[in-house]
Amino acid sequence: MEFDFDTLTNRLNTDSIRWDSFDSEKVLPLWVADMDFQSPPCVINALSKRVQEGIYGYTHSPNHFNQSIAQYLFEQYHWKVDPDWVVILPSVVSGLYTVVKQLTSGDEEVLIPSPVYHHLRLACSSANRPFQEMRLELKNGRWVLPSNELPNLITNKTKLALFCNPQNPGSTVFTRDELQEFGDFCVQHNLWICSDEIHAGLVLDENKKHIPLASISKEISENTITLMSLNKTFNFPGIGLAWAIAENPTLRKAIQIDLHQTIAPPSLLAYTATIAAIKEGEPWRQALIQYLRANRDSIYEKINSISGLSVCKMEGSYLAWIDCRNLQHQNPYQLFLDAGLATSPGSQFNQEKFIRLNFGTQKSRVDQALHIIESCT
Ligand SMILES: Cc1ncc(COP(=O)(O)O)c(C=O)c1O
Repeated sequence: MEFDFDTLTNRLNTDSIRWDSFDSEKVLPLWVADMDFQSPPCVINALSKRVQEGIYGYTHSPNHFNQSIAQYLFEQYHWKVDPDWVVILPSVVSGLYTVVKQLTSGDEEVLIPSPVYHHLRLACSSANRPFQEMRLELKNGRWVLPSNELPNLITNKTKLALFCNPQNPGSTVFTRDELQEFGDFCVQHNLWICSDEIHAGLVLDENKKHIPLASISKEISENTITLMSLNKTFNFPGIGLAWAIAENPTLRKAIQIDLHQTIAPPSLLAYTATIAAIKEGEPWRQALIQYLRANRDSIYEKINSISGLSVCKMEGSYLAWIDCRNLQHQNPYQLFLDAGLATSPGSQFNQEKFIRLNFGTQKSRVDQALHIIESCT
């Protein structure tokens, strides 16, 4: 393989949230969603060159940046986006909070998937908006939306639906039919949609692909703000740049509202990293996916062979959502932590009997994690 994902990287004492929050002598930390791999060489080289210039003044979005994003989205997803629909943000999370605040008011309600990345829920509570949870169901080994339940979850106050594709946690890469059904439901009920697609670049199987929800139809596109970023795929979330896509000018205006005021623009290094990844990152991304797929396969085999545990075959990203409901233990997170493995506790997603394991790491660390899990169950 042209790129090296196997050599153990040492992230101790780098102020890494994941690595510097536990005693590394005792605990293997596979929790927060960043990877233990260096970013692609093209990103490292571009950043080094920029740093060497030595002047880091106020920076505007580089010429043709929105065009590059639009072209990238067409190449990756066959999604035709007008560069004018693109709004640059420092992070996806800032976009989520702005969307909820701007697209709902008073006691208007929001629909969110559950379990889901905790900031979707927090964006609602921080804006004081009531939310209803679409509880994902396990069907044919995949976590999917409870389509039959959706009509019961909305009221005449429901104004916005948040969505996450690929889903975190659960790893579902939603199919065209599933997206069409959900998008049509939202359009029929006049719900704005905010689709968090940050994990889009990490679809693990060759026969599956990421389909942006807004690309399904003109009607869905008119109702949707899509949030994306290359932070996850190319592993530079500590630098941070994201974008929103909104065909509808009302939605575009809503997402722009706090920019350059309470929401700072991305740093100049974030532009540099993103451009390098767009232009030259594809071979690395392909190699990464193969590596992650092998990690996914070992986890799938091993976990499902352990009595009391199960996991579905992760379709996207590098987060295994492990079901411990049949394990005779009150607190699986603590059980594994005491044995030397830090995962994300299911309680972070309101599901205490699950854990989320980050497998964006070297194979030997995945093996070590599986060994720890096996030895204490
Ligand atoms: C679904 C989802 N959205 C957003 C984020 C964070 O995005 P950002 O770092 O751009 O704010 C994460 C990080 O784990 C995530 O999983």
